[in-house]
Amino acid sequence: MERSFYKMGAVIALILCIFTQKSMAQGTSIIQLPAPDRAGGKALMACLNVRKSSREFSSKEIPMQELSNILWAANGINREKDGKHTAPTAMNRQNMEVYVMLPDGIFFYNDLNNTLDLIQVGNHMKSAGMQDFVAKSMLNIIIVSDMNKLGDGAAEKKLVYAGVHAGAIMQNIYLYCASADLHTVVRASFDQKVLAELLKLPENKQIILAQTVGY
Ligand SMILES: Cc1cc2nc3c(=O)[nH]c(=O)nc-3n(C[C@H](O)[C@H](O)[C@H](O)COP(=O)(O)O)c2cc1C
Repeated sequence: MERSFYKMGAVIALILCIFTQKSMAQGTSIIQLPAPDRAGGKALMACLNVRKSSREFSSKEIPMQELSNILWAANGINREKDGKHTAPTAMNRQNMEVYVMLPDGIFFYNDLNNTLDLIQVGNHMKSAGMQDFVAKSMLNIIIVSDMNKLGDGAAEKKLVYAGVHAGAIMQNIYLYCASADLHTVVRASFDQKVLAELLKLPENKQIILAQTVGY
């Protein structure tokens, strides 16, 4: 009896595995994240006191709840009424996007639905940066600006705004990591062309920063 119960469990697990892989391969997979914990954490001054860059990461996977918290802290919606975010944007342009690289695929962080929308399967971590620790890391966050949303002004000024907005997002991540005892380092060292191709970005979207997070 006990044996057949385990057997049935194994078959169900296999079917689920095949189904997930198939839908991921077809590019239709959407992963619902658990609701972020918007109340917990250490006091702000305690987080500022220990905020730092770390370049040592273990191979421990990041649980979905932790990932949801990190992404919401980064640039989640904190005022549902008007869709505004944890990071500010000049003239309320709301031009920033966050992409997620996990060992099994690349995803778009859909802030409205709190989902990870699959872009492509596979471990592409080695393309997330130039430094050795990046290839073996368990989470890379890619911070992108939709330059079209910044209007028709001078390209130089638009880039400054995009940089400032990305700076706010990266510091949100740093502070969350300080609060949750996670390691992180923001990085400007990545190959824009290679990474933009992997993320399937159109020309108007530019990668501003990458950030590695882990234990
Ligand atoms: C815009 C920017 C780009 C950075 N790029 C990299 C990088 O490519 N690789 C890296 O290891 N650190 C990078 N850093 C992290 C800095 O080296 C780090 O913040 C600095 O050494 C100060 O250390 P702290 O963050 O612990 O205060 C970057 C930081 C910023 C603000």
